Amino acid sequence: MNKHIKHFYSALDYSSSEIQYLVNLALKMKSGSVKKSLAGKTLGMLFFNPSLRTRVSFAVAMLKLGGCAIDLPIKESYTFEYGNGIVMDKSTIEHVKDAAGVLSRYCDALAIRSSDLITTSSDSVEVSSWEMLKKDTVIKKFMEYATVPVINMESNVYHPCQGLGDALTIKEKLGNPKGKKYVLTWAYHPKALPMATPNSQILAACDLGMDVVIANPPGWELEPSIINAMALRAKQSGGSLAFSDSMNEAIKGSDVVCAKSWGALKCYGNWSEEKKLRDQLKHWIVTKEKMSLTHHALFMHCLPVRRNVEATEEVLDSKNSVILDEAENRMWAQMAILETVLGETV
Ligand code: CP
Repeated sequence: MNKHIKHFYSALDYSSSEIQYLVNLALKMKSGSVKKSLAGKTLGMLFFNPSLRTRVSFAVAMLKLGGCAIDLPIKESYTFEYGNGIVMDKSTIEHVKDAAGVLSRYCDALAIRSSDLITTSSDSVEVSSWEMLKKDTVIKKFMEYATVPVINMESNVYHPCQGLGDALTIKEKLGNPKGKKYVLTWAYHPKALPMATPNSQILAACDLGMDVVIANPPGWELEPSIINAMALRAKQSGGSLAFSDSMNEAIKGSDVVCAKSWGALKCYGNWSEEKKLRDQLKHWIVTKEKMSLTHHALFMHCLPVRRNVEATEEVLDSKNSVILDEAENRMWAQMAILETVLGETV
């Protein structure tokens, strides 16, 4: 890997103060301080999985900064090989080493979404084990071979742009969030979803110095090594990290409730087993009654959301729901990331 290139793969590759810098830069941009700092620069976007918000917010972010984004049509592109030293006499047509090298000659940065559980199918797809998926092979290979920065638009493990957008939303709404209670609660969803978003959302709340509680049913614990990293970041930022297996208990007295579903790590590669367990958890839904236990908490969700499944419409459309601001803030957060990663400001 080219050591001098600063990729944006995870908030953990940046210090809490660097994350704080990006949040403040995004706030400044949102308040009107936007320059055409990326005039003449191009972002190449590769979506291996569906997207609405990330796709459009990155394109508009580049436009606002004077540059342009190219959404590469992956389905019409060649199939990529990721293995080392492979005799390519089967179905893969182009090695990522060549593809990343070529794209680096055209583009000033690349942005990749590769997250195996994000699909448009009505049911979950069978995936490999968590041990395999957590290698994040696709984006890691692009990071290895690209000669320009690579931005993570959601992998199997992290969704750092969602995390930064959420940090911006919390700061914008609460002012100084230090010491405020943030609850990330698992919610029922008919499919197994990636744990990238909750990982990055929780890291963001930890970086803000909040008192963070993760609520999930037994068996849906997040990856222990990432939990350890979250706990360390929380401590460094003057916050805390705690756990609960009850949504009701967790959200009592909270200032922010963020709902998110994810797949059970032990069931990766065994969807039929997870479905049986998951179908007993339909009561993990955020309702008006549950929100009444909070301290007038903001309600957050990264979207897309299954209405009346993950949260009721009463909650999603309530005055405390900030889901649209949260989606908008993806754009401002990404403008801060793009200017920093592509520009000459840092
Ligand atoms: N929250 C989010 O990443 O949305 P998309 O999947 O639509 O990009």
